[in-house]
This record gives sequence, C-alpha cells and structure tokens, in this order.
Amino acid sequence: MSDLQTFAAIVGGAKRFVVLTGAGMSQESGIPTFRDAMDGLWAQYDPMELATPSAFLRDPKLVWEWYEYRRGLVNTAKPNAGHYALVELEALLPQVTIVTQNVDGFHQLVGSRDVICLHGNIQQHKCAGDCKGDPTLVDISQLTDEASPPRCPYCQQHYVRPNVVWFNETLPVAELERAHDVSLQADVMLVIGTSGVVVPAAQLPFLAYRGGATILEINPNRSNISEIARLRLAGGSAEMLPEVVKLIRENT
Ligand code: OAD
Repeated sequence: MSDLQTFAAIVGGAKRFVVLTGAGMSQESGIPTFRDAMDGLWAQYDPMELATPSAFLRDPKLVWEWYEYRRGLVNTAKPNAGHYALVELEALLPQVTIVTQNVDGFHQLVGSRDVICLHGNIQQHKCAGDCKGDPTLVDISQLTDEASPPRCPYCQQHYVRPNVVWFNETLPVAELERAHDVSLQADVMLVIGTSGVVVPAAQLPFLAYRGGATILEINPNRSNISEIARLRLAGGSAEMLPEVVKLIRENT
C-alpha cells in the first residue's frame, strides 16, 4: 500500500474524526499563512504592532486598517477543493468535527456542519469593551459612523474591533472546552496546515495522541506536530484532500 492509500484507509475507518486546521488550509485559496518564510504575514509585519490588545489601544486606526486589509483578502478569495473535500467526508464517516484556527469562515461557508472556531471570525465585529456581554457583536454594514475604527453603536464609548483572538488574549471558553473534549474522544485526528507553534491550539493533537488517537498530517513542510503523526502527506491540502476522499469512496 502507498502512504496515500494507508492514509485514506485510516481516515475511512475513523469513528470520531477530528480535523484541526491552520492557515495552510486556505493557502491555496490565495490567503497568506503567518509563518511561511517567503510570503507569511509575520515575515512582513510585526504581530505585536498589529494583533494585540495593547497595539489596538496604542494605535486603533492602524490595527483596524490592517484587519480591513485582511478582510478584503478573504472577501476576494474563495474556499478551495480541500474545504469542499472535508464537507464530502461528512457523508462517508459517522462523525466529523473541524477545529479551526482560521478566521476566514471558509469551512462554514462551504457547509461543514460542525466547526469550532478557536480564533474568532474576521467577518464579525464586536464592541471592544464587550458593553453588553462577551462578545457584543456589531453589524458594521449598518453603521453610519465611518470613522476608522467606528464607535460601538450600543455604548458609544468603546471602539468596534474585529471579533478575532489577539495575542495575549484568552480563547473563547466554550469553544476551547469543546475542542478539548472532541480531541480527547477522537480516534483519528487529521492536522492540516498548521505550524503547531501557537497554544492552546497546538496542544490539541498531543491531547488526542495521549488519548489514543492516530494523528495524521497534511503539510508540505514538517511542523511541531509531525513527530507524533503516523503519516504526513507532504503536499498542499487542496491537492491532497480530494485524493484522500476519492480513495475512500472507491473503497466503500
Ligand atoms: P502558520 O503560518 O504558523 O503555519 C502554516 C502552516 O501551513 C505551515 O506549517 C506551512 O508549512 C503549512 N502550509 C503552507 N501551505 C500549505 C498548503 N497549501 N496546504 C497545507 N499546509 C500548508 O499558521 P497557523 O499554524 O495557522 O493566530 O498559525 C496559528 C496562529 O498563529 C493563527 O491562527 C494566528 C497566527 O498568529 C491568531 O491570529 C491568534
């Protein structure tokens, strides 16, 4: 059996299948990753200047515009064949849960039914002071205030900010708890397109592994997860995932 066939057989036999996705999942959609040496966002920009609560306090306009720029990138991009292949898997396996670090919303857009968003969603906005509870979502398309950033329409006091998790912030509690639970219960976890350097997301495969799950990986490069992966398909996810799904279909 080739590695691809073995990989597909393991996925095809999964009862509680969990997928952890990172920026590499959307790389073939044209959205840059964070840490790839050539075109990764953090190779060009300093995250501490753009993606922390103190950066937003210091320079709200700069941070707001950086996220508007990234939202523009997402809006002009489209989900890729890998995102669609994960939806197809739902018809082939009893249980599929996606835990994503991505903020582009592409898994939900293509119809994946069980998606846990650990780092928020760049299409959503909230009151920076969570004036009516955490998070107080604000529909910016309804705002007449065109300031950059606008003020929260509810409290008129705090700025509106993107509903994403910044460095030095905690992850949404319910999402993280559920991500822990599904990782512990998984029999197979597929890790796609993450360098595995940002915790707590990067701990989930290790949790699953210690709980007895088989770890698989799709990533053109080695990551911090590779050491526990039974197999790594060294290619892009938009290319590899449809092949995996095709093989599972042929064998069922
Ligand atoms: P990284 O940029 O750290 O890692 C991207 C990974 O994707 C690398 O391991 C690449 O080798 C791999 N990759 C590149 N192209 C790929 C492709 N076509 N198919 C599959 N894999 C590919 O991104 P993340 O691990 O997602 O956090 O980063 C984690 C977090 O750090 C992000 O959620 C973000 C960032 O700072 C926040 O914004 C809170």
